[in-house]
Amino acid sequence: MARLLVVGGAGFIGSHTCISLLNLNHKIIVYDNFSNSSPRALERAKNLSNIKNITADIFSLKKGDIRDEIYLNSVFEEYISKKEPIEAVIHFAGLKSVQESFIKPNHYWDVNVNGTINLIKAMQKHNCKVMVFSSSATIYGYPDKVPIPELATINPLNPYGNTKATIENFLSDIAGCSNTKLIKATSNNGWKIARLRYFNPVGAHQSGLIGEDPKGMPNNLFPYINQVAIGKIKSLQIFGDNWPTHDGTGVRDYIHVMDLAEGHCAALENLFLEKPQLLTLNLGTGKGTSVIQVLKAFEKITDKKIPYEIVSRRNGDSAIAIADVTMAKKIINWKPKKGLEDMCRDSWRWQISNPSGY
Ligand code: NAD
Ligand code: UFG
Repeated sequence: MARLLVVGGAGFIGSHTCISLLNLNHKIIVYDNFSNSSPRALERAKNLSNIKNITADIFSLKKGDIRDEIYLNSVFEEYISKKEPIEAVIHFAGLKSVQESFIKPNHYWDVNVNGTINLIKAMQKHNCKVMVFSSSATIYGYPDKVPIPELATINPLNPYGNTKATIENFLSDIAGCSNTKLIKATSNNGWKIARLRYFNPVGAHQSGLIGEDPKGMPNNLFPYINQVAIGKIKSLQIFGDNWPTHDGTGVRDYIHVMDLAEGHCAALENLFLEKPQLLTLNLGTGKGTSVIQVLKAFEKITDKKIPYEIVSRRNGDSAIAIADVTMAKKIINWKPKKGLEDMCRDSWRWQISNPSGY
């Protein structure tokens, strides 16, 4: 049991991870500015954990921006004065739309990179040296090998990916492991940092009470298909059917968000138990699914025909991204349990129970 600061914890992945963290008896402070989320997600997440009678000591919320140095420091100080200092930070906060990052690169660098620098500075100041960071498979760009191992070339294709790759380098410098070629590198300055590279997180908690709630038009495949299936959007646009894949549509490694949540718990546990280190892991299933295969799986689950049209490729996309997950299994003993059907069924349950989101 530890006192954790979950930064960006109200968002899609953060809210699901809060449930798994609460179930492990961790005490959580969520720090979020709600720029892409709702406090309702947290109210619901709290009720979905196995812990009864959750008090403000176990689960609390601070509304703030990670770039707000004064407020961020005050949260660390509050818990030091309560004699229960924050022991670790799980860092989800950031902007994540590939398309938007082309339009607002300044904003992406400011929130993602400056925000993380600010957060690390606050942690350093208050002697908190454990962080689990949300990185992304997008940093691999066009991979030179599939499934993609952690030591593959880092070559982002978009500003969002550039910010993630830069933060990864920054964290490596902070841990005293600059330019390491190791998946698990020793930190000689006491830091314990996990850089988790998510592949394509989708699905929702099986209750259908929390899920992915994009503001405006969705960018990602799963929320987009859901909105077509429910009749909010007329048809799915498939971005290219001439990729070098088995059916010509993009192939991704979709991972159920609750499996991903468990992956965070496993990584955190590992950091707590092991010596100071910089750990870099892919979190995916190791299985590739094309856009057409996702569409067919959705049609089966929803029992609806999902109209689609083929349009040109999207800027910044790659043909295929599948994780080599050997290291996550070996080092943190984590393996996803849910398959494509669970992902489609759970995201659809969330969609039909909450047609307008939170
Ligand atoms: P999300 O947008 O749902 O969650 C991010 C949360 O951070 C939101 O609650 C948002 O309000 C908060 N936030 C944003 N800027 C902030 C700021 N300046 N200060 C405080 N809070 C702020 O996104 P998500 O899908 O849950 O992703 C979480 C993390 O995982 C992100 O860093 C994202 O880049 C990364 N990631 C996501 C995916 C994906 O497909 N969802 C894939 C790979 C990596
Ligand atoms: N796609 C469509 N039509 C859509 C949306 C997506 O055909 O309306 C296709 C894409 O071209 C791609 C696949 O569906 O082949 C998946 O696209 P997503 O937008 O759902 O996911 P991405 O792989 O492009 O990117 C996502 C997140 C990134 C994250 C990355 C990690 O958006 O933030 O996964 O691999 F970094």
